[in-house]
Amino acid sequence: MTKAMGGDYCLFLMTSFDSSFPPSFLTTADLSISQISELFKTAGSIKSHFQKHQQFPRLFTNNPVIALLFFEASTRTRLSFEMAINRLGGTCTFFDGASKEGSSLIKGETLDDTFWTVHSMMPNAMVVRCGDDFNLLSASQKTEMPIVNAGFGTHSHPTQALLDIFTMLEFLPSLEGKHVLFIGDISHSRVAMSHMELLPRLKAKVGVVGPKEFTSSVLSNKTEGSAEITTFENLKDALPWADVVIGLRIQFERHGSKEGFSLETYTQHYQIQKRHGSLLKKEALLFHPGPVNWGVEFLPDVRELPHFKMWQQKQNGVFVRAALLQSLLGKGKMS
Ligand code: CP
Repeated sequence: MTKAMGGDYCLFLMTSFDSSFPPSFLTTADLSISQISELFKTAGSIKSHFQKHQQFPRLFTNNPVIALLFFEASTRTRLSFEMAINRLGGTCTFFDGASKEGSSLIKGETLDDTFWTVHSMMPNAMVVRCGDDFNLLSASQKTEMPIVNAGFGTHSHPTQALLDIFTMLEFLPSLEGKHVLFIGDISHSRVAMSHMELLPRLKAKVGVVGPKEFTSSVLSNKTEGSAEITTFENLKDALPWADVVIGLRIQFERHGSKEGFSLETYTQHYQIQKRHGSLLKKEALLFHPGPVNWGVEFLPDVRELPHFKMWQQKQNGVFVRAALLQSLLGKGKMS
């Protein structure tokens, strides 16, 4: 395995964060490439320490209490933040705003009041997942408390982009000139939006393939000066181009009633199956942020492909999120 930005794991005790590390992490654009490189070094060091000692370094010395405020459902993001906080020596408090039952959302309390209610209890940081109906960016501008975006509507999922790229860099020495292909429901994917901000800064090339209704808005929203996106008509042309393939979940819950999505047409043209391995480069990586709709984006037999790295992505989510929290709350030497 090649280790690049995340590579030199033994350095972490000497690492100190750039004092300009932002107070909150709302979008990938909040971090410079050198800050991301430092973050990945820390994540790699925590991972290496865990592999040697089966525990994290206790980087949180003052037992910070971190509130997880999730207005939308989550398995990976929630649990990886919880594991990271617990293993670093902090405490987390989870607010389940997705099911509504058990909180005052059921009595009609607003999302805004809920956010400020939790904020008033003075956690050391808040990790927030929300839909488009809560303005996370505006709320974060009104406080000095560190706020972490754990998935914001269709806008952004910056920690997912970080952990994906950290995982890519465990296999590739650099992303410069590499081709990253997104398949499927790109227009509803906050994961893809965060990647499209960050990948061009790492000099990677972005490609998309999927039904026109899921790609056209992404291409038309391109702003002046933004990176080129290569579009492909079909998997036969797209897959051999890619160094990294990211399958995206079809986000049925975000589709408006007008979208004429046909599951049958989708699976016929864009579903990835084991047989597609023959179209992939030998060293290509196959990712999915999860959750997967098995039988839609992927057939279960893709798990047999050597390219399939989804479980490694999930595992790295804990290390990358731990490094992020340390950088936001520790802001100093990790010794
Ligand atoms: N990838 C991701 O965000 O998964 P969860 O919705 O389970 O957190």
